[in-house]
Amino acid sequence: MKESIIIDTKNKKSVISPDIYGHFSEHLGHCIYGGFWVGKDSAIPNIHGYNKAVVEAFKELDIPNLRWPGGLFADEYHWKDGIGPKENRKRMVNTNWGGVTEDNSFGTHEFFGLCDELGCKPYVCGNVGSGSIQEMDEWIEYITFSGESPMSKLRASNGRKEPWKLDYFGVGNENWGGGGNMRPEYYADLYRRYQTFVRQYGENKIFKIAGGANVDDYNWTEVLMRNAHWLMDGLSLHYYSYEYRWEEKKPATGFTKEGWYRIMRNAWRMDELIRRHGEIMDKYDPDKRIAMVVDEWGNWFAPKEGTNPGFLQQDNSVCDALVAGITLNIFNNHSDRVRVANLAQAVNVLQSPVLTEGDKIVLTPTWHVLHQYKAHQGATLLGTSAAYSYCGVNDVPDYNASLRGIKRNENVTVPGLSVSASEKDAPAKSNAKKQYLVTIANADADSSKEIEIKLAHLDGKIASATATVVTGEKMDTINTFEKGDAVTEKTLAVKVIDGETVSIQLPAHAVAAVTVLA
Ligand code: AHR
Repeated sequence: MKESIIIDTKNKKSVISPDIYGHFSEHLGHCIYGGFWVGKDSAIPNIHGYNKAVVEAFKELDIPNLRWPGGLFADEYHWKDGIGPKENRKRMVNTNWGGVTEDNSFGTHEFFGLCDELGCKPYVCGNVGSGSIQEMDEWIEYITFSGESPMSKLRASNGRKEPWKLDYFGVGNENWGGGGNMRPEYYADLYRRYQTFVRQYGENKIFKIAGGANVDDYNWTEVLMRNAHWLMDGLSLHYYSYEYRWEEKKPATGFTKEGWYRIMRNAWRMDELIRRHGEIMDKYDPDKRIAMVVDEWGNWFAPKEGTNPGFLQQDNSVCDALVAGITLNIFNNHSDRVRVANLAQAVNVLQSPVLTEGDKIVLTPTWHVLHQYKAHQGATLLGTSAAYSYCGVNDVPDYNASLRGIKRNENVTVPGLSVSASEKDAPAKSNAKKQYLVTIANADADSSKEIEIKLAHLDGKIASATATVVTGEKMDTINTFEKGDAVTEKTLAVKVIDGETVSIQLPAHAVAAVTVLA
């Protein structure tokens, strides 16, 4: 069956903020320690203590920003424990993540050094849950103040005279839950108070992000916007996709076809969440000044067997590639409101683009999709319409109903295709004027699709068209340390039909990126 996508090249929409392609590094399991950070004395090739191969993998993705130190960890992190001579740094318990000892050897200086190596913007998340206003105030002064002050002197005494540039600052994390179990009214008041002390020193303009809702808690968004919208630049949203029930997580691989479609359906839910939280934001901010910041997203499966359950290690398969492809298309298509997002998490935790084991590293299917999509960063979103069939499974037992003792069957269907398209200037070395990137995810577990893509109202003609595809033999094929190339970005044939139309044959459970120069 032929599917068709029409891209209206005259319907130019919002600019896709590069920061939608951000990452998240928490002090959790082996994301920082053994992931980004191996220490200067490690036998693993490193740049000032940062794992060289990991840094290179993220540079290759043009990583725009990195969020740190949490997550839940942020609300029990006291930044002064992580500065100064390493041997004097306080050792603490990481209560949220496995109860392991945190020796604070990775702190403020190491984080900003990492962002320098990666060439990305720092996104620091502050402590509202268990931290004081003075502590937050002094952290900002320590990081960004260039004149003479107690904190700038302390920074200099630790070897850094110049301040750093701080782009994003989150005022707390999940304060409805692990960040303090607050009611939205209470957090809104705290937000107003804490953010006052997130000072704007000199040229440094900090983008202040208020802690937002959990999934579909629309009341949280309503209360925050009503009580504090004029004091925020961004409002966050956290949403993880999963297979079965949040309380009963299933493994990352070995799922059934029903499981696959449930995961796809959960990934698509992001669209509804953005629309509905966005409608509330529109009431108070019709001009969309405030960014929706989806600073935690991705698949959350059961911990990989044999690992510390508190470390949230999971495999990353073709299924994760699809969820990344669908979610990033959703973000692109909502880029008028969604301007920052962070995949959880960067290395060895949840849906990671990069996994490490000692000196070994593997790029996951998710990494390859991020690589396919990277030219969307900073491009202009174009209007798309797609005519596609739905895919899924019918008459499977409805687990929500059966939990309540009811016997009922459900149909788990999802749109067969997810699409976004953008335009930017063509690379100088090509003779073309414009470069179009069309990214397409085919969630159909079994059927490949012939897809015709029409670039309507093209100014000129198609000069060249190329495509890549990320897929694997099975829905849950993974890359391992031994065989890292089971799921990689491969060339896909593109047929040029006429001056404005191309077609591809997209395999089942696959993500394609079609680049057209015109
Ligand atoms: O990403 C893992 C955890 O998920 C984060 O620490 C927390 O913010 C969320 O609940």
